[in-house]
Amino acid sequence: MAEKDIDIYYKTILDLVSLAGKVVCEGFSITKRVETKESTADLVTEFDQRVEEILIKKLQEKFPTHKFIGEESTASGIKTTLSDDPTWIIDPIDGTTNFVHGFPFVAISVALAINKQVVLGVIYNPVVDYLYSAIRGKGAFKNGRPIKCSKQTELSLSQIIGEYGPTRDTHILDIKCKNLRVIIEKVHSIRAMGSAALNLCLIAEGCCDAYFEYGVHIWDYAAGDLIAREAGAYTCDPSGAPLNLVHRRILCAATKELAKQISPLLTHIDYPHD
Ligand code: IPD
Ligand code: CA
Ligand code: CA
Ligand code: CA
Repeated sequence: MAEKDIDIYYKTILDLVSLAGKVVCEGFSITKRVETKESTADLVTEFDQRVEEILIKKLQEKFPTHKFIGEESTASGIKTTLSDDPTWIIDPIDGTTNFVHGFPFVAISVALAINKQVVLGVIYNPVVDYLYSAIRGKGAFKNGRPIKCSKQTELSLSQIIGEYGPTRDTHILDIKCKNLRVIIEKVHSIRAMGSAALNLCLIAEGCCDAYFEYGVHIWDYAAGDLIAREAGAYTCDPSGAPLNLVHRRILCAATKELAKQISPLLTHIDYPHD
């Protein structure tokens, strides 16, 4: 893939997230139509759908041969299998629960994968106007300035992010709570802010040291994984195996040493995937 093509994709998506960000801001402080999906805590609003439609329509006009994986389009049968074709992976609003409650930790997350490899990622929180971005091999940026993750190697000195996610399955919740319980006594703190994409950006900019979650989807972590890695972080499957974008789980740590201390503490959860 020629560098100039990547630049065109990058500039295009930056313009589009800025446009889509206005729609998110329009919905942020008003009462939304809230529906549920797979659990009583798995929320979606008309703004999630609108933002995804806008992004896909505009990208399709510009790049008619490209493919799409969008969170809200999976409802209409779009598969999450990645092919080698250029594929835009879109989470129109990551942090929908925050969006519904007016908690300003929401983001539009978009990644572009080519030959199953993410080549660019953009995560934009329009409420506070923070734009995180990365092109593979070129570093990570926040509002145009380079960002770097922390150098933390000691679990006992770390601030960790661990999410509960939208599942209300008792067995899965028990394991998630057990994992957080095991970690809490070994670290400075655990945070759960409700946006996988922005969690990865917090690792990228160095104010948290590690994040793990089971049950996330490709649209939650494709862009954030690249941004975190370009900022120097280490990402893998929570078991320690290489990260797989469709296996629905991630461990991201500022250093490999830190990831190696977290992984054996976790009870692993397997999700069915394509
Ligand atoms: C959710 C958020 C949340 C994470 C969930 C995701 P959504 O995405 O990223 O932090 O815990 O696993 O589903 O539904 O708000 O786009
Ligand atoms: Ca969702
Ligand atoms: Ca999400
Ligand atoms: Ca979403």
